[in-house]
Amino acid sequence: MSFMDLAAERYSVRSFSARPVEQEKIDRILKAAQLAPTAVNFQPQMIYVLKSEGAMAKINHLCHCIYGAPMVFLICSDERKTWKSQTERGYSSGEMDCSIVCTHMMLEAWEQGLGSVWVRLFDVEAVARAFDLPAYIKPICLLPVGYASENCVPYAPWHDVYRPIESFTKEL
Ligand SMILES: Cc1cc2nc3c(=O)[nH]c(=O)nc-3n(C[C@H](O)[C@H](O)[C@H](O)COP(=O)(O)O)c2cc1C
Repeated sequence: MSFMDLAAERYSVRSFSARPVEQEKIDRILKAAQLAPTAVNFQPQMIYVLKSEGAMAKINHLCHCIYGAPMVFLICSDERKTWKSQTERGYSSGEMDCSIVCTHMMLEAWEQGLGSVWVRLFDVEAVARAFDLPAYIKPICLLPVGYASENCVPYAPWHDVYRPIESFTKEL
């Protein structure tokens, strides 16, 4: 599949079947995470693979956007490893780096016939507490992954309504 076809075809899956995700596919998604560009190639991502009954029960309790997925990637930034700007006070690259990592994972999942949905609607502190994360590990987003349930369609009717390119670009 060409990149453009994949980008156009992908949508957020919000209804998953219980079918488990094969380990080889999980490994390829993690490989895509490894290949993502990050500031100075510092690679500050820390990814928790939530699959066990206990971990899934916890995340389902803390987040209502898991949609029946059999597994979830909890993508975090290790704040000890992020790039810090010397010219812009307080700037740390963690959220941007992890967003690129998550995008790689989401697109690789789709290429392997798996759906996913980027999720930010959760209490970061509650998740950090529940999984006993050290203070320097900052949850950035969740990525529930799995096989879409039968008849799954884009949830949002505006899924493929895009702004015209001219409306968000300006040649200078
Ligand atoms: C930063 C970010 C946060 C998001 N948070 C959520 C969320 O908490 N729950 C959810 O169901 N979808 C969430 N989404 C998915 C978007 O709603 C979705 O990508 C958007 O509506 C476009 O639809 P599409 O992915 O089907 O093309 C999030 C996406 C992004 C990029």
